[in-house]
Amino acid sequence: MKETPINFNIVKEKIDNSGLKPDISSSTIREIVKVVNEIEQATGEKFVRMEMGVPGLPTPKILLNAQIEALENVVTSKYPMIEGDAELKQEASRFVKLFLNKDVEAKCCVPAVGSMQSAMALFLTVNRTYTQRNKILFIDPGFPVQKQQCQVLGVQYETFDVYNFRGEKLRNKIESYLKTDEFSSIIYSNPNNPSWISFTERELKIIGELATKYQAVVIEDLAYFGMDFREDYSQPGLPPYQPSVANYTNNYVIMLSSSKVFSYAGERLGIIIVSPSLFDKSFEGLRRNFKKDTFGYALIYGSLYTLSAGVSHSVQKGMAKMLRAVNNGEYNFIEAVKPYAERANVMKRLFLENGFKIVYEKDEDQDISDGFYFTFSYPGMTGDELLEEMLYYGISAISLKITGSERTEGMRACVSQVLPEQFEILEYRLKKFRENH
Ligand SMILES: Cc1ncc(COP(=O)(O)O)c(C=O)c1O
Repeated sequence: MKETPINFNIVKEKIDNSGLKPDISSSTIREIVKVVNEIEQATGEKFVRMEMGVPGLPTPKILLNAQIEALENVVTSKYPMIEGDAELKQEASRFVKLFLNKDVEAKCCVPAVGSMQSAMALFLTVNRTYTQRNKILFIDPGFPVQKQQCQVLGVQYETFDVYNFRGEKLRNKIESYLKTDEFSSIIYSNPNNPSWISFTERELKIIGELATKYQAVVIEDLAYFGMDFREDYSQPGLPPYQPSVANYTNNYVIMLSSSKVFSYAGERLGIIIVSPSLFDKSFEGLRRNFKKDTFGYALIYGSLYTLSAGVSHSVQKGMAKMLRAVNNGEYNFIEAVKPYAERANVMKRLFLENGFKIVYEKDEDQDISDGFYFTFSYPGMTGDELLEEMLYYGISAISLKITGSERTEGMRACVSQVLPEQFEILEYRLKKFRENH
C-alpha cells in the first residue's frame, strides 16, 4: 500500500468498482463527480474539486431582486413571447453595441434557455440552410455536450484540435474543410472551454474571411464573455471591446450565456445574437423543415418554439434590469468575476512549482490569460494514469480526451469551486504527488 494523502485502499476500491477503467480518461464530467463523491463520503476527506465548470460566486443582487419583483407581478400565468421580452431584447442590443461595438437590432437578439438550448436551436437551423451541407465544423478542444447535441440530433460534424494550427496556419486547415462544400457552419468558444486559449485578432480575421468566402455561418460561443482578463473589456462604449469574429464577417451568430459572467447557471438564460444580414437572409434549404425560408424566422418560430416555447418571464425581466445596470455603467460585471483569474494565477503557480506543465500555454506568442479553466499534464504520464493518480491525492479534474483535444496526456482544471482557503491543502497534495512520482 502506498502512502497517499487520501486512503489508498478506499480510493482503489472506489475506482475499481466504478467501471471507469481501463479507459478512465474517457469518463464524462458527471462520472468523475460520482466517483469523487463516493470517495469523499467513504474517507471523510474533502477533495480539491476541479472537474465541474459550475460558477463559484453568488448571483448579483440586482439580478435576483429584479427576478423576484417580476415573479411577484404575477407574470407566471402567461406564456412568454418566443422572440423574447421586449425590454431584454432592447438591453441586449445595447449591450452588443456597448461591449462589442456592433450594431444589432433588438429583433436579432433572442433569448433561449441557456446557451445549451441556443446551441441546440442553432444546430437545428443552421444545418438545414443548404441541402448539400450537412456537417458542422468544431474548432476543438470544446465543450463536450455540444457534440452530444449533434449526435442526438443526427447532425454530422468534424473536428480538429487547434493546438498545432494557431496563427496563419489556421487558414489552410479551416479551408480544407470548407472547400468540400459539406459544412454549414463553424463553432468554437472564446475564451475557450477547456483550454482557456483566446483567438488573436489575426485568427478571428481568418475565420471571418473564410466564413464569408464559403458562406458558412460562424457560431461564436462567448460563454465566458470578457473573461480574458489580460485586457479590460468592462467599460461600456469604450475600447477595447470583446474580440469577435463579428468584426470580420456578416455571417455570424453569437451565443451569450448568463451562467458564468452573471453566476446565473441555475436559472438557465442565454441570448442568441444573430448578425442582422443573416437574420433576414433566405435559404432555399430551410423550406424543407420550416414554414419560411429566412434564417431568423426559422430559428425563432421553428427551432426555439418547438424546443421550449420561450424562456421564463422572470429570468428575462431579471436579466433586462441586470443588463441595463451594466449598460449604464452602474455595475461592472467583469470585475465581479475577477476572483477566478486570481485563483487561477495561484493554482497554476502551484502546479508549475511541483513539476506539472500547462498544456495550452500560448495565444500565438502571448501567454494565455488566467481565468475559469487551465490545462495541465505531468511529464511521463498518460491521461489515464494522471487522472487516476490524482484521485489518490485528493485532486479531481477531467481529461482533455473528452474535449476533442489531441493532447490526451492533459487534464482540464476548473478553478471556480476551489476556494483560497484550499490553496494550502492543494499545495501539500501537489508536493506529495511530486515526491512520489
Ligand atoms: C463553452 C460553453 N458553452 C456553453 C455552455 C453552456 O452554457 P449555459 O449554462 O448557458 O447553457 C458552457 C457551460 O459550461 C460552456 O462552457
